[in-house]
Order: sequence, then C-alpha cells, then structure tokens
Amino acid sequence: MIEINFSGRPVRVTCQRQSGPFVAEFQIDVAIEYERGDMAYRHIEVRRIAGALGAEVHGVDLARPLSAEVTDEIRRAWLDHLVLFFRDQPLDLPAYMAFAQQFGEPVEYPFVRGLEGYPKIIEIKKLEHERVNFGGIWHADTTYQDKPPMATTLLAREVPPYGGDTLFANQYLAYETLSPGLQRLLDGLHAVYSSAKADTTKTREDRMQDSARDDVREEYLAEHPAVRVHPETGRKALYVNVAHTVRFRGMTEEESRPLLEYLYAHQIRPELTCRFSWRVGSIAFWDNRCAQHNPVNDYHGFRRVMHRITLAGDRPSGISAAAR
Ligand code: SIN
Repeated sequence: MIEINFSGRPVRVTCQRQSGPFVAEFQIDVAIEYERGDMAYRHIEVRRIAGALGAEVHGVDLARPLSAEVTDEIRRAWLDHLVLFFRDQPLDLPAYMAFAQQFGEPVEYPFVRGLEGYPKIIEIKKLEHERVNFGGIWHADTTYQDKPPMATTLLAREVPPYGGDTLFANQYLAYETLSPGLQRLLDGLHAVYSSAKADTTKTREDRMQDSARDDVREEYLAEHPAVRVHPETGRKALYVNVAHTVRFRGMTEEESRPLLEYLYAHQIRPELTCRFSWRVGSIAFWDNRCAQHNPVNDYHGFRRVMHRITLAGDRPSGISAAAR
C-alpha cells in the first residue's frame, strides 16, 4: 500500500510493508501544465481565440529578459498558432526591441523612417483627420522583397474607443482547403510581387508625406513560389496576397487575374480567420510565412498608434519538382 501526503514539497511517500513502515522522500517539481490538444506548456498559458489561428499568451512579463525555456515555449506556440497576442505589456522602446530580438533580427521597413534612435521601430498610425489606415488591405508584410520578413510584432500605444481590430488568416488552411487538382497546379507556379499596386500604395500615402525614407525606391519587385514551404514546420502555405501579387511568372496579368481573384477570396474565408481587439499595451506577434493580416478601418475621427518591428526572413522555398 502506498500513501501519498501532498503538503508542498518534498512529497512524502509512505510504503507500508509487512515488516514495518518504509519511508522514502522524493523531490518533485510542481509545474502547472497548460494543455492544448497534444501540446503542453509548462511556463506559459496559451488560450486559443479562434478555430483557425491565433492564441493569447498569459503568464509572461515581456519587459524582462525571457529564459530559454520560456522563449522556446513561445516560439512553439507561435509556430502552432501563427499569431500570438499578449495583454498588458506597455514596454518602453528598449524593452520592446529586446523582446523582438529574442525571436529574430529586427530589420528596417523600406518606405517609412523608423523612430528617432530606433530605426527598426516604425510608427503605424491613423490620425483623427485621416481616412485611410496604414496597410489596410489583406497582406503578408513586404512580400515584394527577395527575403520578406519572417515575423512582425505590433505594440498598441493609442487605440480608438471602438474599432481598429486586426484580422488574421491562416494560409496553411487556405492551401489545405483547395482541391488536390488546384493544389497540384499551384505547387508548380511562381508569382510576381510588387510594392507599387495602387490599392496598397494609397494605404502608405499619409505616412509617406510625413515619414518617408530618403532612400525610398519607386518599386520593389520579387518572384516567389505561389505555395511556400514553411522553413520551420515543413507545412505548405498559400503565399499570394492581394496587396502585392501582380501575376504568375510566365503569364500576363490578364491571364493570371481569374485564378488570383479566386485565391484572394478563398484565402480570407471567415472560417480561416481570427480577429483581435486591441487595448493599450497589447502586443501581436505573427508569422508572415503562413499568415496574412488586415487592419479594419472602422474608427474615423479617432487616433490609433502602434509600434511595429519586423524580423528578418529567408528567401521563400517552394515545393521541389521531385516532391510534386
Ligand atoms: C500592418 O503592419 O500591416 C498594420 C497592422 C495593423 O495596423 O493592425
């Protein structure tokens, strides 16, 4: 017979033997395991906010350096949920930069100047009198670059009294919910991405007036696989986006348009998305390799101010001809 008396640590386990009591003492680590399906977290609490993607992370103070264990768990949760949200983290600029650096290498944004002393933090804002919000179109960040950023983090400084949420869409699911025939077709295609599409350019105009970089180029152009293989998870994600994709390689814009239009509508179907409502001090941290985002422009007359850091990424890889 074994009797366990739990009263803090250590735990005393008493084994009753015929010849008399035998006492053994064990040191055990008491850790709360936060469960999500088959994933367990020992140091953070991860709460999904939607079926497709997105989770809030609780139990961490991002103003302090994170231990290797916590950083690893956050990264695991991030790869699993594509976008993580943290509440009540009003980090100052050095702490925000330090938070981002634990997950990658911050890089500058090609169009807008960074903050004084922090060239890799840009201010994303819409002022009371402005009508267009920055980046107000479905997209993954700057896919017109040869090596688009792996990740983006956004910290809310000022939020409107209502509205100004950001939508996210899971591009693994976007790919996986296509028919096998269309998947096979897309597996072999590359797309051309431009920074100069009119609907996107207009979402930058207000900031280009007050914060344009001196070295800004007329247009950035890149080619990437239409279906990207995620370098960390190995999963396939649909990589075209309405903000930056102009056509498929080897085809005209006119020829590409019907299929691209279909994909743009498919990849943001409501069941593939989640929606995050900001509070001052909220942080979002998303994976541009498999998620798209779109800030909702429904708060005219109010200010919304965010600080953004993007983290360096690699050159997107597609599906090799052998694997198709
Ligand atoms: C962006 O980085 O595209 C802006 C997202 C937002 O303002 O919510």
